[in-house]
Amino acid sequence: SLKPIIAPSILASDFANLQREVEMLNESEADWIHVDVMDGVFVPNISLGLPVVEAIQKHAKKPLDVHLMIVQPERYVEAFRKAGAEIISVHIEACTHLHRNIQQIKATGAKAGVAVNPHTSISQLENVIEEIDVVCLMSVNPGFGGQKFIDNTYKKVSRLKELIQSTGSKALIEIDGGVNKENARLLIEAGASVLVAGNFVFSSPDPKATIKGLKL
Ligand code: DX5
Ligand code: ZN
Repeated sequence: SLKPIIAPSILASDFANLQREVEMLNESEADWIHVDVMDGVFVPNISLGLPVVEAIQKHAKKPLDVHLMIVQPERYVEAFRKAGAEIISVHIEACTHLHRNIQQIKATGAKAGVAVNPHTSISQLENVIEEIDVVCLMSVNPGFGGQKFIDNTYKKVSRLKELIQSTGSKALIEIDGGVNKENARLLIEAGASVLVAGNFVFSSPDPKATIKGLKL
């Protein structure tokens, strides 16, 4: 069977007990730790920044998947790499020179991710898809955890899968926002291979069991 990569989103965890939360993820079947960085400009919320990523990295035994929801992300790519990011995703909507930004991420040794808002068409990835390691399809409007999954995402997964197959790209399809047990199966069937889950994991009575359950 197709085992998805599960990336619990630390945004939904208890920030006053970050070490405990990261250790829980270390012991779980989580594959990556998704870290949401919000600047209050690109998105209407402020979450956490470099010092917190460094603190997480000190305890994490799994790759940090850093999702930059910030304007001019090229100003901070190197710093987040130094803070411990293994995957760095920038928003297509925040990049005037996306091709250059992808090369910049890869030059640091990190894997390059491109995040795509719900309104943004998959066709906008056509000229860079072969350069990308991960496409992070937003299934909510970024800025907050705990929002409702947007059903149009299924169509976008299929379109993206077609684009990836037709170009021979190796990009992984990651889904971010409102993921739960019900939509997880449909997303994997449609071609997704990485699932981010925040509230579904951290609001459940047994987060480790919930993570395991998402692996189907
Ligand atoms: C939204 C963030 C997501 C969010 C997911 O702006 O990018 O990663 O934390 O949380 P849930 O799963 O609760 O929607
Ligand atoms: Zn995210």
